[in-house]
Amino acid sequence: MKIGIFGGSFDPIHSGHIEVARQAYALLNLDEVWFLPSSKTPLKDRNLTDNEDRKHMISLSIQNIPYFSLCTIEMEREGISYTIDTVLELKRLYPDYDFYWIIGNDQLKQFHLWKEANRICEEVKVVCFNRDYQMSSTKYPIQCLHMKDVCVSSSEIRKGNKLNYLCDGVLDYIYEKRLYVEEFVKSRVKPKRFEHSLSVAKLCSQFAINNGLDEKKAYYAGLFHDIAKSMTVKEMEPWMDILCPENKSYAPAVWHGFVGSEIVDRIFEIHDPQIKNAIYHHVLGTSEDPYAMIVFCADKLDPLRDYDTSYGIGLCNENIYKGFLYECEENRKYLEGK
Ligand SMILES: [Fe+2]
Ligand SMILES: [Fe+2]
Repeated sequence: MKIGIFGGSFDPIHSGHIEVARQAYALLNLDEVWFLPSSKTPLKDRNLTDNEDRKHMISLSIQNIPYFSLCTIEMEREGISYTIDTVLELKRLYPDYDFYWIIGNDQLKQFHLWKEANRICEEVKVVCFNRDYQMSSTKYPIQCLHMKDVCVSSSEIRKGNKLNYLCDGVLDYIYEKRLYVEEFVKSRVKPKRFEHSLSVAKLCSQFAINNGLDEKKAYYAGLFHDIAKSMTVKEMEPWMDILCPENKSYAPAVWHGFVGSEIVDRIFEIHDPQIKNAIYHHVLGTSEDPYAMIVFCADKLDPLRDYDTSYGIGLCNENIYKGFLYECEENRKYLEGK
């Protein structure tokens, strides 16, 4: 058996990884490719997402490809994992197999830093796949192969970009387990706005729980409600022209609700109509859908605001409609005063 070993943090796995593995399978004439998620990489200091979550996302992505499988020996090992230890363990477990160690060009550049790099090359065949035509040179006996470029990285996905490069079911899992989602918002709004968004999301879930509603839906409506807040008028204008040109007569400060409701759909692939509606109406409080009332109130009653919001919070926890009527009245008084 010729086995390709494709190691990485897979945080998260995306279709670029799948494409590398497919090309390795074909170009090296392999029988199988095993995805080997790392537990903790000595050369990377970012904290990795939980092993179970990364494993699950890999399983979802490879479930329909019979010659791909998941190999968890690095995750099962205690402490920091070195490739040489994994190589020796695999050779002990499968003495008759021929292993091909698949690395990327970025790993080739720092291969000399790997523990016992020479010995790794003696024990297995190391193959470097490169997206660029410019291969890095190396003093090690490493075979270099060119692959078709897939322009996506896990770090882009962690910031909520290129989510369409995730395999079926993975994005649902990310939302289900709330992996990376706060990063999605953090990378698009200012730090203060991010703190506010998190705080509103928490308050939304509290209101939902106390009113017998879906806590997850409320959390996401709250988390994303100000996603378009950092956009300039110039940036929002094309969205407004397409989505709701009739609303351009409102002050631009109101527009981020309209635009944000479409951004969650098109960029973050959140298609739930109640979440979109809640974001759309959150500035003006013009919808009596329960999730729209929740977000409108939680936004005004954010405990981080510089006034005491405990009375309104109490009302919303008791009954969101009561709280909503109270908040609408408070808001009207505030605007009149202004
Ligand atoms: Fe807002
Ligand atoms: Fe807000």
